[in-house]
Order: sequence, then structure tokens, then C-alpha cells
Amino acid sequence: MEKVFLSRFPESFYVWKEVIGRSLSDLWLQDELSRSEKKLLSLGLRCYWAGFPLPYLTGEARFAERIFKVRPGVFLPRQESEVLLEAAEKEIPSNSKVLEIGTGTGAVIISLLLNRADLKGVGLEISSKAAELACENACFYQIGSRLKVINQDFESFSGEKFQAIVCNPPYLSFYEIMALPFSVRYYEPREALDGGESGLEFYYKLSEKVRELLFSGGLLLVEVGKRQSDMVKEVFSPFMSWEKSYFDGLGVERVLVFRLR
Ligand SMILES: C[S@@+](CC[C@H](N)C(=O)[O-])C[C@H]1O[C@@H](n2cnc3c(N)ncnc32)[C@H](O)[C@@H]1O
Repeated sequence: MEKVFLSRFPESFYVWKEVIGRSLSDLWLQDELSRSEKKLLSLGLRCYWAGFPLPYLTGEARFAERIFKVRPGVFLPRQESEVLLEAAEKEIPSNSKVLEIGTGTGAVIISLLLNRADLKGVGLEISSKAAELACENACFYQIGSRLKVINQDFESFSGEKFQAIVCNPPYLSFYEIMALPFSVRYYEPREALDGGESGLEFYYKLSEKVRELLFSGGLLLVEVGKRQSDMVKEVFSPFMSWEKSYFDGLGVERVLVFRLR
């Protein structure tokens, strides 16, 4: 009964492979489905059809050629943020201490520290679920000695200065959130997406704080949304000089590099 039902949905073959790592078509032909596998498959497919993001089902996501643990309630790392990683790898001076604001799974700062063995980092994250997950990912990649994850709102963080800050903030406007696909809007955490009515609120808050967190001449690398770059340059212009931009594969100005004057 279950097999007949599933055979109507060709995409279920791919979901199955993601969920248990085996091809459904092979199992199907060999009639190898155990009771528990069937249960898992049918649960996975129901979640998938309800728009639940696949990485939350499989528990992992790929970022910059590495696998990171993910789970519901924590923002899924995106390919666009690989541009942030690339910019940070190229721009941050040797032996710097780097702060990532809004660490999420830790994919960006962990990849950065793995690719640049001379750097040390702090990951600040307001969500306790995300901070816990970032610690697990740091532990998996054995960089706990170079990365400290702190579960705190960046606005209340103080007492330490850094040579560089990297940040992929929540930057979607109210209207962009309304237009998001169901799977993002309902299943990913709002505090990771919501940049207020204009999408720029987090950048304004960051601009207030950045002088307290950076050494003089320090770098800020921020990811921005489509068509936001000019407005974000304006937000930081009172204290920081815009030095350069990095573009994504679609030609969108994705990462801005500023220096504290
Ligand atoms: C767009 S996600 C980026 C996550 C991760 N850096 C990445 O690129 O995959 C933004 C993250 O910032 C966190 N965040 C939002 N407001 C924050 C705040 N005030 N202080 C620290 N983290 C915050 C969210 O919980 C979320 O994990």
C-alpha cells in the first residue's frame, strides 16, 4: 500500500536517498524496505511535502565543501555566504582575532579558522539553540581551542576588541519576508531573517556598536541583500570607509568591506 502511494511521487526517490543515504529505486527493486525504514521514509516524505527543508530532515548541510550539523530553529547556511568566507580569507590580516556576529551553525567562522590556521575567533549568537550547535560543529572540526562561542546579544557584548568583524545579519525587509517561499518563511527562525521594515535595522545597530568592538583601522565585512549595498554603505559612512565589494556568481554585490577610520 505504502509503495503504491510513494511511486506516484518521483521526487520521493531523492528525498529517501537524502534521509537514509540509500537509493530508493535500488531498495524498491530488491524489495529490501524494512518496517522501520518504511516508517522513516513515510515520516520524511510527509515533512518534505509540508515544505520542511530537506537539510533539517537529514541533519546536515554543505557549506564551502564541508558538512555542518543543522537542526530546526537554526538558520541554514547559504551559498551566498561563501562570498563572505572568501572575502574574509583574503582581507583579514595575519594573526588577527576575528569576531563573527550572528554565528548560526558556525559554518562561516569555522570554515574561516579551518582555512586560515593563523586566526582566532569569537562567535556571538543570540539564539541558544544556534550557539549550542555552533559549539558542536566547532568540536566536530576540533577547533575549540581557537574558537569561543558566546550566547549573547551583540548589543550587550563588551570588553573585548578585534582586528576584524564578519557578519551575515538578518537583512530581509518586511515585504521580502512576506514573499519568501513557504519552506523558509515558516521553518527558518525569524530572528535570523528579519531586518525590520526596511531590512536595514541590524546594520544601524551594528554601526552604533562597531567602534567599541574594533581596534582602530580594523575591518568590517558584512553580507548584504540584493539592492542594499548603497544604503548599507551610507549607514556605515560616518565612522567607516568602504574599501571594496565582493560579488556573487549572479553579479550581485554581496559583501562590503569597510575599515574603521
Ligand atoms: C542570517 S543568520 C547568519 C548565520 C550564519 N552566520 C550564516 O551565515 O549561516 C543571522 C544570525 O544572527 C543571529 N542574530 C540575530 N540577532 C542577533 C543579535 N542581536 N546578536 C547576536 N546574534 C544575532 C541569528 O540568530 C542568526 O543565527
